[in-house]
Amino acid sequence: MNPSVKIIINDQPLELPAIVGSEGEVGIDISSLRDQSGSITLDPGYGNTGACTSAITFIDGEKGILRYRGYDIAELAQKSTFIETAYLVIYGELPTPNQLSEFSDLLTENQMLHEGMRFHFEGFPPTAHPMAILSAMINATSAYHPNLINKREQRFSYHAARLISQVRTIAAFSYRKAHGLPAIYPKTTLKYTANFLHMMFSHPGEDCELKPELVKALDLIFLLHADHEQNCSTATVRMVASSRANLFASASAGVCALWGPLHGGANQAVLEMLEEIHQDGDDGTKFLNEVKNKSGHRRLMGFGHRVYKNFDPRAIIIKNQCDKVLEQLHKTDPLLDIAKKLEEIAIHDDYFISRKLYPNVDFYSGIIMRAIGIPLDMFTVMFAIGRMPGWIANYKEVMEDSNSRIARPRQIYTGPNIRSYTPLDARP
Ligand code: CMC
Repeated sequence: MNPSVKIIINDQPLELPAIVGSEGEVGIDISSLRDQSGSITLDPGYGNTGACTSAITFIDGEKGILRYRGYDIAELAQKSTFIETAYLVIYGELPTPNQLSEFSDLLTENQMLHEGMRFHFEGFPPTAHPMAILSAMINATSAYHPNLINKREQRFSYHAARLISQVRTIAAFSYRKAHGLPAIYPKTTLKYTANFLHMMFSHPGEDCELKPELVKALDLIFLLHADHEQNCSTATVRMVASSRANLFASASAGVCALWGPLHGGANQAVLEMLEEIHQDGDDGTKFLNEVKNKSGHRRLMGFGHRVYKNFDPRAIIIKNQCDKVLEQLHKTDPLLDIAKKLEEIAIHDDYFISRKLYPNVDFYSGIIMRAIGIPLDMFTVMFAIGRMPGWIANYKEVMEDSNSRIARPRQIYTGPNIRSYTPLDARP
């Protein structure tokens, strides 16, 4: 028997069906609520609202569990690569050796931008934030594939590969442009993450040294960002996709949503915060007091999460990787010491404990990226590159769902009631 939930609205009993997920979580299906009762639900920020069912990623925020397609994030981080994980996230299963090699070939075949795209870069001022360039250029890709517009599932694999592959080329080109450096084209012989670093840091006629430990560390960062169920940017991608917009337009909207400092932009904001604390000569105590008394409307960036109320499993993996990378490079970073001190104080402080605020994925990732040589304003771009498979998988899920409807929330109107127009000369 399907479970249901009985509620009473305006003294009227209602029975609503419930959906039980594969991990036992229960969602009350309110799709008939307005028809039955005349009322709607109100949930600003959607903390209690499920917008879809999805088979891609499972999170249990209370237990600190994150799984892509059933595989635990820690196991994938240890044993997989970003590209293999991207395949898993998009297509639902780990690839066979053949599938992986076909997928890699497709990425390589699609890594070059249309030469016409190069001219778009010229239009951006040198001060343009790379996230602005990234969203604009991903959207511009639609212009080179007009057959894609409003078509469901037209050569999906090809366009998905193009997006995963080219986001990295666009990202590297935007960095080169901002620094007045000539564009470096991708090489067919290099794997995904190594190729990205090559496009970022090589010079014409002089290839950069690709340190395996740094390539691995960045690949891990991409993998850890590959999907995260219905976060702000993914929900945006699904929203745009629900209108049947094309894949590139939907992903471009995802980049815009990711940019904000409460979401993907937090990795840049964390480093800016740590630098500020360092320059102030503070060990973190003064800054945390300011956060807690809310006088300056400051937040401890890289802390807190809508879903994780215990710990973010990605933060633990990244913190360990952070120590490892600095050790391998025989480097120290005063910002890492400040970050550890902030964490140490915060996890024992009632303000953070009572609000269940713990380090999230962005707290330590910036320190690794800094060690790799990625500039600060490119941090959120790294998040976007990593999140691309998740956006693509969610786009695919929307397009393949025969019951999918355009996403169109309702509202409770709180404005003025009907009134008559006052001519301009009669207004006070
Ligand atoms: N520092 C200080 N106080 C905080 C923080 C923080 N980082 N995060 C939340 N709070 C407080 C907040 O002031 C509020 O306090 P009170 O109850 O006294 O009003 C309470 O905790 C609940 O906060 P909220 O804003 O209602 O929580 P939310 O679930 O809407 O926000 C969040 C989640 C991630 C936006 C928030 O924790 C935050 O702003 N964190 C800092 C930015 C950040 O690191 N973002 C990256 C998130 S992980 C990567 C991603 O997926 O985007």
